[in-house]
This record gives sequence, structure tokens and C-alpha cells, in this order.
Amino acid sequence: MSVNRKIQTLDEFTIQQMRDFPHATGELAGLLRDIGLAAKRVNTEVNKAGLVDILGDAGSINVQGEEVKKLDVYANNQFMGVLQHGISCAGIGSEELDDIVVFDDPVSNNSKYVCLFDPLDGSSNIDVNVSIGTIFSVFRRVSELGKPATQEDFLQPGNKQVAAGYVIYGSSTMLVYATRRGVNGFTLDPSIGEYTLSHPNIKCPEKGKIYSVNHGNFFQYEEGVKSYITVCQKKDKATGGPYTQRYIGSMVADVHRNLIKGGIFMYPGTTDKPKGKLRLLYECNPFAFIMEIAGGKATNGKIRVLDIQPTELHQRTPFFVGSKLMMEELETHYKG
Ligand code: AHG
Repeated sequence: MSVNRKIQTLDEFTIQQMRDFPHATGELAGLLRDIGLAAKRVNTEVNKAGLVDILGDAGSINVQGEEVKKLDVYANNQFMGVLQHGISCAGIGSEELDDIVVFDDPVSNNSKYVCLFDPLDGSSNIDVNVSIGTIFSVFRRVSELGKPATQEDFLQPGNKQVAAGYVIYGSSTMLVYATRRGVNGFTLDPSIGEYTLSHPNIKCPEKGKIYSVNHGNFFQYEEGVKSYITVCQKKDKATGGPYTQRYIGSMVADVHRNLIKGGIFMYPGTTDKPKGKLRLLYECNPFAFIMEIAGGKATNGKIRVLDIQPTELHQRTPFFVGSKLMMEELETHYKG
């Protein structure tokens, strides 16, 4: 007799998915469980922000030259700690750390995955109670099992990702992750402390009504980008415009909304920063993977983000991601 389960937790879901692959070892399920656990701890602190001394700057500058917030440090330590003490990850790369951290112990050296993450994206919003998030990306190692992970394991193009996801600490807390089989979203139920499947098989609408870009930089964008933004603002039956402009400045929140409702998010290069601001490995690759699996598109203005061969851990790239038809319209104006 099979029992009709209405509620499915993240663990139940990942185990269910494993049952379809008799040769699966459970390492990926374990890795996702570890990430979910670290995110619960971060969520608890994010919810207390304002009550305890966790807001504000930690007093240091990270590798990107940005002020490190105390919650950034906390989140980084939680993710690193949980993955290091788990059994599914050979090493990590973090937006907060100069270099990769290879765990190099007998168990970790036999783990087949490495993980890259931005522990707390949008952290400049922490002090003003705006949604922030964690972004992660999982690769299968290319280095020899049984030995420590190497830099090569981390510098793989995004099309080699095995899984990618994010946690949004918003009006509710959600963990959304993608594998090649689909994108699924889980909402944290605080009454039982479990992520439960709330958004099965997410598909990004082919077209939306939202465009998200930092308008303050408008005059620094290339002509093609300006031209597309102008199209977004025009009343036009063919495009469905004018679109609504929404930009939180917290990419997890901006892209999450556009993924669910349909829309386009852009962080183009500027004359000051031709490569833009966002990091390929920690921010763009994971969202490009999620969006493509959900039916959308992601480019750097020239090529698919997932086809960029990274050359350094912290490299930046212009980034355009969103609904398929809106991305195709962008491409008619801007070719990078
Ligand atoms: P940070 O983590 O330093 O707050 O950066 C957030 C990122 C990304 O989440 C967001 O979309 C973008 O930076 C916003 O940058 P601008 O303020 O330059 O628009």
C-alpha cells in the first residue's frame, strides 16, 4: 500500500529523487542537506538582526575590496563548517575568501563534489531589513578521487554544474535548487524547522512584465543596453511594454521574483567597470544554470554564461538573465 504524502520535506524529496537512480551514492542529497542546515542557522541570525550585535561591519575588507559585514563572516563560517564536517564535499570556494579551501582529510578526499558559494549576497541590505540570500553551485571534481581537490575542480565552466541553488531570507525563507532534472523550491516551515516542497518543477514564464537594472548607471551602459532599456519603457503592443521596473539591489530577491513571475535582470558592464560587478562563479553561473533549467536564458551579452571558461576564482562578468523571449529581444539590441 502506498501512502499519499501531501507534504514532502527537502530530505524526503532528494531521497525520492535518488530512488530513481539506483547507482546514486546519496552524496548530492547529503550535500544539499548540509547546505540546508547551514542556511537554517544563518536564517536564525538574519531573523534576529537588529536584536543582537550582528548588524554592521566586521571591520575588514574582503577580497573584492568590499566592507565585510558581521553576518557575512557568520554565514561564511556556517557554510564552510557544515561542508567541512560533512562527508559530501572535498573543498569550497567562497566569495568571502581569497582562495579555495581544500578540506584534505581521508573522507573529504574521497568526496566527489566541490562547492562554490556566496554566503550572503546583498549584504549591503542587511542593515535595512531587505531580503538577502545565499547562492551555491556544485561541481563534480575533475581531479583524482582519494587525493585533495585542486583549483581545476573549481575553475570549470558553468555547463558542468551538477546542481545550483539559492536560499532567500525574505518574508519567508526558501531554498530553491536545480539539477538537470528540474528546479524545485522549498519553503522553510518554522513550526517544524523543515524545508517543505512548495514550488515543484518551477518554470520561468517565457515572457514577463518586469525588468530589473540599476538605472543609476544608465549613462554608463553601452548603446545596445540603453536601447533595450528604452524598449522596456515604451508602450508597444508587440513587446507588451511598458514593463515595470523592479530593482531591489539584492540579486537573489530580484532574480527569484523574475524566475517566478517572468522578467529580465541585467547587470551590464559600465564605463567604470566594463566587467560589471557580479562574480561568475558565485553569482552568475548558479543563476544561469537555474534559469536555463527553468526554460529561461542567461548571457554575458555575447555568449551563454554557462559556456564561459573561468580563469580565476573571483572573476566578474556582465550578466543578463531571464525569460526566454525577453532575452531574445535584448539580443536584437545588444550583442556585447
Ligand atoms: P552586495 O552583496 O555587496 O550587497 O552586492 C549585491 C550584488 C547583487 O546581489 C545585486 O544585484 C548587486 O550587487 C547590486 O549592485 P548595485 O548596487 O551596483 O546595483
